Amino acid sequence: MSGHRIFAAVYDRMAAPVESKLLGPRRARMLSGVTGRVLDVGAGTGVNLDHLRNAEQVVLTEPDPAMRAKLERKLGRAHAPVVQVSDAAAEDLPFDDDSFDAVVFTLVLCTVVDPARALAEARRVLRPEGSLYVLEHVRGEGAQATWQDRVTPVWKRLGAGCHPNRDTRTAVERAGFTFTEVENLQAGPRWIPASPLLQGTAHPTG
Ligand SMILES: C[S@@+](CC[C@H](N)C(=O)[O-])C[C@H]1O[C@@H](n2cnc3c(N)ncnc32)[C@H](O)[C@@H]1O
Repeated sequence: MSGHRIFAAVYDRMAAPVESKLLGPRRARMLSGVTGRVLDVGAGTGVNLDHLRNAEQVVLTEPDPAMRAKLERKLGRAHAPVVQVSDAAAEDLPFDDDSFDAVVFTLVLCTVVDPARALAEARRVLRPEGSLYVLEHVRGEGAQATWQDRVTPVWKRLGAGCHPNRDTRTAVERAGFTFTEVENLQAGPRWIPASPLLQGTAHPTG
């Protein structure tokens, strides 16, 4: 993957207001109790490292070299041992079947090329009793979804490939997961394409 240098350079500063008010507390609630061997897919600049406090081992993937360079600079501040940083894409994970207790996607399934394949890979590497954690901005409904479809071509160009109009909840369920906790919320004005959020915990369907 060629890097998005400008996106990587501004990502943490651009996200800071929404991280401090909204996403940071949600990441903390979702991730601070996660234990075992944890895979954070598309880890970006490593924002989740502040919250993965109880994991035994953390494996990070990040295919964008510019984001990965920032991620590597944050490893020293991780609370849990980071045992591997991989440049693999979510669609083709270089890990064994059933090798993780938890897989985390935060603000990633909007950007991966093939969400169905990424989720199939998550299902493959996750133990049958493991947990999938998602915090993603997603497709809204009605006029909001129509608006998201309209702005997607421009949004994608400005946002390093981000699609604001993906129905991620359906994609997760189609990939063979069942949500045990799920919340849909509207974060801010409806005209902001990335304002509908999904947060949830899902498990491989038995
Ligand atoms: C908006 S950032 C989110 C980063 C981080 N997960 C967070 O919560 O702040 C999206 C990340 O997904 C990564 N990404 C894009 N395509 C990907 C793919 N096919 N597989 C894995 N990660 C990908 C990007 O490089 C970027 O770092």
